[in-house]
Amino acid sequence: MKTGIMDVRTRIAGTGSYLPDKILTNFDLEKMVDTTDEWIVSRSGIRERRVAAAEQATSDLATEAGRNALEMAAIGPEDLDLIIVATLTPDHFFPSTAGLVQRNLGATRAAAFDLEAACTGFIYALTVGDLFIRSGSFRTVLVIGAEVLTRFIDWEDRNTCVLFGDGAGAAVMKPSDDPGQGILSTHLHSDGRLADMLMAPGGASRMPPTHEVVEKKLNTVKMRGNEVFKIAVTKLSEVVDEVLQANGLREDEIDFLVPHQANLRIIQATARKLRMPMEKVIVTVDRHGNTSAASVPLALDEAVRGGRIKRGDRVLLEAFGGGLTWGAALVRW
Ligand code: COA
Repeated sequence: MKTGIMDVRTRIAGTGSYLPDKILTNFDLEKMVDTTDEWIVSRSGIRERRVAAAEQATSDLATEAGRNALEMAAIGPEDLDLIIVATLTPDHFFPSTAGLVQRNLGATRAAAFDLEAACTGFIYALTVGDLFIRSGSFRTVLVIGAEVLTRFIDWEDRNTCVLFGDGAGAAVMKPSDDPGQGILSTHLHSDGRLADMLMAPGGASRMPPTHEVVEKKLNTVKMRGNEVFKIAVTKLSEVVDEVLQANGLREDEIDFLVPHQANLRIIQATARKLRMPMEKVIVTVDRHGNTSAASVPLALDEAVRGGRIKRGDRVLLEAFGGGLTWGAALVRW
């Protein structure tokens, strides 16, 4: 194994995504909890979200997204050196979801592990993949963000159940031949003092999954939404400044923003910070809801396959979520 960060950049050689077939609209939710389509759209921008079929777990969604990314990158599973799955809704505590994806794809040579940084998971995974490639340890890395969050939602809590959805997105990372192309910088942050603002309190070692925990739905997502909202806007603004400063760029030199899709108003605030018109912002929150670690790679894949993001574009990826965690990556496509 070679060591030391090399003077090489990591490019994204292919993207992929997968969404389950079942659509749950705001009108469906009106029949389940005391809410309205008007409230959900005006407060969050969400109109519908996908829900995984009963037999589907996170690794199934992740495998499909990974397969699509391999196809775009025109490589086979045997070319993979490493698979990282970012998820907060793994199939099991162990083995890792990444190991199951490795099995499903037949990526026999690859190492595999999961990474958990909640909604910021894909940015963390991209950063780790970039470092493995630039260190010379691995040449071909598959990073996936995948979630079946709808299994960990209290469907009687209108504060949270209207916000989340299921899905998976993936990217194949390889060394770039062109020094101008690839990941230009990555920026990761965390503030564990704010951990209890957004969490699933029960179901793990702190509060094992007893009957009582499950009856009280303590294994589902709890969020102090309004407080999280304000911190998200502030921290994403700070990380945008950090990206611009680290790369010596002005706001107008960023071509596309691919934000975490939690809330349209948070996305609009980040776009305003970048003085960027909404045409240059990739928005999927209306159709996907918040898919946590899957949201950024799902949006990225849609923009790449739709022909919006093209070679040479500077693309800013950012996310914010539980932990609390937040981060960004700037990529020259
Ligand atoms: N339908 C109708 N009313 C609802 C509702 C729903 N689905 N959910 C909450 N409400 C009510 C609340 O009960 C509250 O009523 P009250 O004032 O009578 O107590 C009112 O709406 C306002 O709630 P508030 O929390 O102030 O709304 P908000 O403008 O902050 O929007 C969120 C709520 C959750 C959409 C928003 O705070 C948000 O998106 N937060 C951040 C999410 C995020 O980024 N997470 C991090 C990444 S995972």
